[in-house]
Parts: sequence; C-alpha cells; structure tokens
Amino acid sequence: MNLYDIKKDSKISVLMIYGSPRRGGNTGKLMDRFEKGLLSNKNINQNGLFIEKIFIKDIKFSSCIECRHCSIDGECAIKDEMQKIYIKLINCDFLAISSPVFFTCVSGYLKSFIDRCQRFWALKYELGKRIIEKERKGVFISTAGSDSNTIFNCPRKAIRALFDVLYIKYDKDFTYSKVDLKGDILKRQDALDEVFEYAMNLIIG
Ligand SMILES: Cc1cc2nc3c(=O)[nH]c(=O)nc-3n(C[C@H](O)[C@H](O)[C@H](O)COP(=O)(O)O)c2cc1C
Repeated sequence: MNLYDIKKDSKISVLMIYGSPRRGGNTGKLMDRFEKGLLSNKNINQNGLFIEKIFIKDIKFSSCIECRHCSIDGECAIKDEMQKIYIKLINCDFLAISSPVFFTCVSGYLKSFIDRCQRFWALKYELGKRIIEKERKGVFISTAGSDSNTIFNCPRKAIRALFDVLYIKYDKDFTYSKVDLKGDILKRQDALDEVFEYAMNLIIG
C-alpha cells in the first residue's frame, strides 16, 4: 500500500501502544484504566469509537539498522511488521503510549520502536514532506520503581521527540514513581482515578 494514499473512515481512532514487556504490569493497568475512561466518555460517540491496542513485545520487528534509506524517500527499507504500524500511526486521531522506566529511559522495546520512526524524522526534517495533515493529541503513561523527581525526564524527552515527528501535540503525561512490583499501581487509587478521569473527559478531534 502507498503510505501517502491512505483513506480514513469516519470513526475516531485511538491507538494505544503498550511499551512494557510485562503484560498486565503497572503501566499496562494504567492503560487499561485509560481505555475504561474512553468507553465511559460522553463527549465521544461510542459507536464511532475505534480503539486499537498494540503490545510492542508482540510485534516482530528489527531495530533501526541506520541504512539511511529513509533520508532518500522517507520510506523504511526494513519490510517487517512495522510497516503496518506506520499506517496506524499516521491514521490515528489520538495516541496513548506507555512505558516503564528502564535504566532511566523507556523500555528497550519501546526505544527500538521509536528508532524505527526515523522515517518520520527524515520526512519532516530532511525531505520537508508533511504526510500527516490532521491535528491530534497524545499522552504518555509511565511508572518507575525509584522515588525520584527527575526519573521521568529522559523518557519524556524521547516521547516528545516521537510526538514531534508524528505531528502529535503532547497533551499530558501520567507518571508515577515508587511503583515497582507487578500490581503496585493498584494501590495507587489516585493514579487510577487520574487516568480514568482524563480519558472520560477527553475531547478528540
Ligand atoms: C530492566 C529494568 C530496568 C529498570 N530501571 C529502572 C530505573 O532506571 N529507574 C527506576 O526508577 N525504575 C526502574 N525499573 C523499575 C520499573 O520502572 C518499575 O518496576 C515499573 O513500575 C514497571 O512497570 P511495568 O510493570 O509496566 O513494566 C526497572 C525495571 C527493570 C525490569
């Protein structure tokens, strides 16, 4: 399929990208709360809402090999499952992305995923081609085991850079420290409520 010739249907499409390798972990639970909030959102016509979840761990894809093919035509030379994901990233109306903090940044899975978005960087900054016209927003959800005020600085920066090349406004992030063991986040009712309420009141489009 030609990526520049994508048809959009009338549904509101929310793409949820789970960046943790631990299924049902802390960030996963927050993402599930986000989904529940969306499903209770009265600003959104529920019949026209299309939510798609992607677990990065399940995608078969290679890391960026730095061949710089995308600098020539904006396409990625690696023909793996990321090709389908590119289309979803282009077409979504809202993006929710999550990651645990791993060694002060996002998970390795998510970092490889972001690196594969170099083609969007090349399109925007090297080739001057805007293939994404619509205005959209996104959020970042993260947890970290340590108790540090600065632990989310690096992950935020990486997600902001991703949103920038996708023409996504970084609307908000939800970051919680001192959340480590699987299920720890369930003890943080404030966090669960905050994410739910944001999604329940969200206006998309
Ligand atoms: C490989 C690895 C690296 C980690 N690095 C950090 C770190 O640098 N700082 C921190 O505060 N927590 C770190 N953690 C803890 C996780 O961020 C924390 O457990 C998080 O809540 C996990 O979220 P999840 O259940 O969604 O995967 C690390 C955990 C793992 C497994």
